[in-house]
Amino acid sequence: MAHGQGRTNTTVAIIGAGFSGTCTAIDLIKRNQCRDFVILEKGLEVGGTWSDNTYPGCCCDVQSHLYSYSFEPNSNWSREFPTQAEIQRHMVSVAEKWGLYRHIRFNSTVSEGRWNEERKKWDIAVNIGSGKEAEYGEQYTLKADFLISGVGQLNQPYYPEIRGLENFSGKVMHSARWDWTYPINGKRVAIIGNGATAAQIIPEVAKQAISLTVFQRTPNWVVPRNDTAISVSRRTAYHYIPAIRKRYRSQLMDMREDFFQAASVPDTKEKDGIRKDCLEMMARSIPSNTELRAKLTPVYPPGCKRVICSDDFFPALNRSNVTLQTDPIEQITRTSISTSGKRSHEHEIDCLILATGFKTQQFLFPMEIYGSQGRSLSDVWKEAPSAFRGVNVESMPNFGILYGPNTNLGHNSIVLMIEAQSRYLNALIGKVIAAKKAGLLLALSPKPAVIESYNKWLQERLQKSTFADPRCQSWYKTAEGRILNNWCGTVVEYQQMMSKVQWQNYEIEDPGNFMVSRGAFDQIGRVVEESSFLQKSLDGVLIGSSVLFAGAFLWPRTRL
Ligand SMILES: Cc1cc2nc3c(=O)[nH]c(=O)nc-3n(C[C@H](O)[C@H](O)[C@H](O)COP(=O)(O)OP(=O)(O)OC[C@H]3O[C@@H](n4cnc5c(N)ncnc54)[C@H](O)[C@@H]3O)c2cc1C
Ligand SMILES: NC(=O)c1ccc[n+]([C@@H]2O[C@H](COP(=O)([O-])OP(=O)(O)OC[C@H]3O[C@@H](n4cnc5c(N)ncnc54)[C@H](OP(=O)(O)O)[C@@H]3O)[C@@H](O)[C@H]2O)c1
Repeated sequence: MAHGQGRTNTTVAIIGAGFSGTCTAIDLIKRNQCRDFVILEKGLEVGGTWSDNTYPGCCCDVQSHLYSYSFEPNSNWSREFPTQAEIQRHMVSVAEKWGLYRHIRFNSTVSEGRWNEERKKWDIAVNIGSGKEAEYGEQYTLKADFLISGVGQLNQPYYPEIRGLENFSGKVMHSARWDWTYPINGKRVAIIGNGATAAQIIPEVAKQAISLTVFQRTPNWVVPRNDTAISVSRRTAYHYIPAIRKRYRSQLMDMREDFFQAASVPDTKEKDGIRKDCLEMMARSIPSNTELRAKLTPVYPPGCKRVICSDDFFPALNRSNVTLQTDPIEQITRTSISTSGKRSHEHEIDCLILATGFKTQQFLFPMEIYGSQGRSLSDVWKEAPSAFRGVNVESMPNFGILYGPNTNLGHNSIVLMIEAQSRYLNALIGKVIAAKKAGLLLALSPKPAVIESYNKWLQERLQKSTFADPRCQSWYKTAEGRILNNWCGTVVEYQQMMSKVQWQNYEIEDPGNFMVSRGAFDQIGRVVEESSFLQKSLDGVLIGSSVLFAGAFLWPRTRL
């Protein structure tokens, strides 16, 4: 890598090439006509979550017609819930379309960001992992006017602290670091965990392994996913009549927003619906094993932990080669996992799969970020990670986070949150770019009092949500019960909040008075995803035209 001026200076540095990083980059091009940006990605591909998680069975649990950018619809999704490979391919095609590859530096890990008060720029330490570039310089500094973190909440695998794990002599794989060269066929396999990831791996591994032991600590509520292929005629209709595809997206949005009542609000009738669906599916899938069904039935309310969507999890547990183990794990030896409980037992295995989740509470880990007056992010967050609207942090000028503290959901697509964040942050970046064009340096950061009152309001609401229920522990909250990861409302509420930038919420060092609307706000709008009254009324017309279209499309083929 040539470390010339152009390579070490940029207007915006974006960390991560997942949905967050690529969305911010596209908005820079669309909204700010800015192509002076760099995306630093520690991996070798675009996709983030969708390039890291290649385990068998990996797919989304929000329909891809909603789990995708509103501005890059794909008429051609093959299924309601496509596989990881299909989602990643789509993300690659979007990155290609927008010409992002020339901005992405792969194999580049950010270890530090340091705000330079005088120059009003970030000094970003970039480590080159391997390859020819690393031979002549393993690290360099990139200077940027604005720094964006798009590293997500689920990118650092969590390895459990279990006595003896390091002594195991067989194969160990974390779900997010799957080794496809290892053949599962004919192996005695154990999997620790039964969350959303394990629920996807178990049915696939069960088909190949000679035996599979699932180590479950806490059961989960599981509802049918009802995955189906999307027919060619439907895909063709989506392609030629985009209004039908758009309508489908808004119907999915309505359905998902309704699910908020089930996932996040205590004591609703929708929660009873989840209990009923789960227990009925369990009874259908495991008809003659009441002991197994009892072990799989949670005692906490649905939504307290993530509700799992799966059609094949319960049937897999009912297979003769699969055992559900609920006794606590005592230790791991060279060749086995031993459990305590009424009868201690040693389970001999060849392969251990850790579906134990991610380090979700150390946002931006392990990067070191230093803001105004050298203040570190770990100092700002010494009580708990928090941000203004999930995107801006105290003492961190010209800095933004996507999918940051309190922006995760239990009921809808994270991509919708990311789009709102990207639009909002691009409004801030726009001011910095305008100042730069005029040869001036502009710095803005959220006011501490604003962050405090926002988080007070947020935490009060969250404490009334299902996530706070003390009957469960989850990756959403600390052991003390503070919810760090989740947003408190619906997506529409979040989008509405993010549709305005109120400049009085920011401390602004503005030598050129670029905040033309200081004291007021800029209305930046939002993507309206939910159905409008008009859309609902037009449903009849659309259904009619799609039937006509499908007929016209299929008629010549049926005659052949
Ligand atoms: C298996 C799985 C399935 C999921 N399914 C769904 C779903 O169905 N619906 C849903 O809404 N959400 C789902 N999620 C959540 C998912 O993480 C988000 O929807 C979304 O993909 C997050 O995108 P992101 O770009 O913010 O983060 P990520 O996709 O995690 O991307 C972060 C990127 O930053 C890079 N990076 C990290 N640190 C550094 C560094 N120091 N330097 C350089 N690069 C760095 C990483 O390599 C990665 O490429 C799922 C998560 C997992 C793990
Ligand atoms: N689209 C999808 O369908 C999909 C798929 C995968 C992931 N995701 C997303 O990613 C998130 C994380 O999912 P995940 O399944 O990877 O992680 P997770 O939900 O955090 O689950 C981790 C699992 O490991 C268990 N575990 C952790 N440490 C353990 C230990 N020391 N001993 C025994 N068991 C241990 C946990 O048990 P406890 O429950 O007792 O803590 C839990 O069952 C999901 O919530 C979801 O947001 C989505």
